[in-house]
Amino acid sequence: MMTLKLSVSILVIFFLLNIFQCSSEVLYIPVTKDASTLQYIIEVGQKTPLIPTKLLLHLGGKSLWVDCTNSTTQTSSTYKSAVCNSTECSMAKSYGCGDCKFRSELQPGCNNNTCYIWGENPIKKMYHDGSEVAEDVLTIGSSPGVLVTLPQFVFTCLIDPYMLEKLADGVTGFGQTTPITIPNQLGSDPRFSRKFGMCLSSSTTSRGIIFIGPSPYYVYNPKKIDISNDLAYTKLLVNKRGFLLTDEYYFQMSSIRVAGQDVPLNKTLLIINKKRHGTDGTSISTAIPYTILHTTFYDSVKTAFINALPKNVTIVEPPPMSPFATCFSSENIKSTNVGPEVPPIDIVFYKPSVFWRIYGANSMIQVSKDVMCLAFVRQDQTWLPSIVIGGYQLEENLLVFDLPGRKIGFSSSLNLKQTSCSEYDNTIMDKVPF
Ligand SMILES: *[C@@H]1O[C@H](CO)[C@@H](O)[C@H](O)[C@H]1NC(C)=O
Ligand SMILES: *[C@@H]1O[C@H](CO)[C@@H](O)[C@H](O)[C@H]1NC(C)=O
Ligand SMILES: *[C@@H]1O[C@H](CO)[C@@H](O)[C@H](O)[C@H]1NC(C)=O
Ligand SMILES: *[C@@H]1O[C@H](CO)[C@@H](O)[C@H](O)[C@H]1NC(C)=O
Ligand SMILES: *[C@@H]1O[C@H](CO)[C@@H](O)[C@H](O)[C@H]1NC(C)=O
Repeated sequence: MMTLKLSVSILVIFFLLNIFQCSSEVLYIPVTKDASTLQYIIEVGQKTPLIPTKLLLHLGGKSLWVDCTNSTTQTSSTYKSAVCNSTECSMAKSYGCGDCKFRSELQPGCNNNTCYIWGENPIKKMYHDGSEVAEDVLTIGSSPGVLVTLPQFVFTCLIDPYMLEKLADGVTGFGQTTPITIPNQLGSDPRFSRKFGMCLSSSTTSRGIIFIGPSPYYVYNPKKIDISNDLAYTKLLVNKRGFLLTDEYYFQMSSIRVAGQDVPLNKTLLIINKKRHGTDGTSISTAIPYTILHTTFYDSVKTAFINALPKNVTIVEPPPMSPFATCFSSENIKSTNVGPEVPPIDIVFYKPSVFWRIYGANSMIQVSKDVMCLAFVRQDQTWLPSIVIGGYQLEENLLVFDLPGRKIGFSSSLNLKQTSCSEYDNTIMDKVPF
């Protein structure tokens, strides 16, 4: 009797410990910056037998989707299309259901009695209504030394070659609201949580990292440091822009400072305008290389930036075909450990003391031997977000997306801590085939 009681309580203790340990795991997913397209790419394994699949990192994606155009490479003994009205269909927020109409023979991406959703190519801004909902094995990243495999990951499968233009094999789907996005499906696994950190590398030869699960998130300098400390947090916002559009992350901000001074902005444009179908506001996109600013915002920032530069820095014509409108001779611009010495640009959150500081490494780009440009794009954003933070500004910064806490944290440049997004423990990937 006594032994039985004891073993039950020991079992209970083990069970509790196990839960505690399990939910504190971090999944590491390396992110490569592609040298030719400047896209951020995650490589996963899919299907049975497992094949490596390269996906564009798309924060705002509603689902992980892959190219299923080539039926001869699509065989997988574990592929299952989602039967109409199944749990998978409702998880995917599917709007339609039916039989295969794009092909004469059934294949992955074209099955009978299956539901579908919209697929999105965020590079070409193209959408396709026949993205088949399915489930299959997914191998993604590593949880220190252990390959993480999800036997029934819900994703979508597309058989339209045009949708794949300018992309590798598909798109990640890292959105916040749809239950089938990567953070939401991994977050419902007891090992992880609906919190993730993203640290993009500025180098095309050493990989950055996504951490999924609760912090600390460690890198080395060479001491082990937790880069999730001292972040500036602001509110994460959801902007429902209709079924077709994406699941982008928006965040609350109140002004932009250049060299410590507020620049004049029409503050109305910083708030998501529900009456105009969710235009305006500030979003983040890993599918665009440089931050886009509403024309009036760009002009204000540019003026303040030029005024704050030393007088011996000369303005030069932007190179032809360049996306940038403001360039300088790099002759009198010194370099520092956080890039060219230029006025810092602050994205101020809900009060003046809480902000994300952008230094020269993220605000300036060397376009030729003697010319540097302000790495922001001036664009008419009338029916779009007023600001879209793009990849270049995020590199070597940690962003923490805390979905349950509905907040997002920014670290500023990791160069300040003498480290970078590539300085994580590379041995964690030893057992991972890609
Ligand atoms: C499909 O994939 C196979 C095997 O990789 C390849 O030989 C074939 O050319 C591909 N077909 C098309 C239409 O791309
Ligand atoms: C199944 O789902 C479709 C739409 O996806 C809906 O029109 C239909 O009524 C549903 N059928 C049942 C039996 O629930
Ligand atoms: C799939 O549906 C099509 C059209 O509804 C039908 O002609 C075909 O026989 C079905 N195929 C299978 C294998 O059930
Ligand atoms: C600010 O932008 C809003 C929305 O476009 C516009 O209605 C308003 O007139 C602008 N305010 C100023 C002062 O320009
Ligand atoms: C340019 O001006 C700055 C600030 O006025 C000064 O510190 C710097 O030495 C000057 N550089 C050159 C090359 O004259």
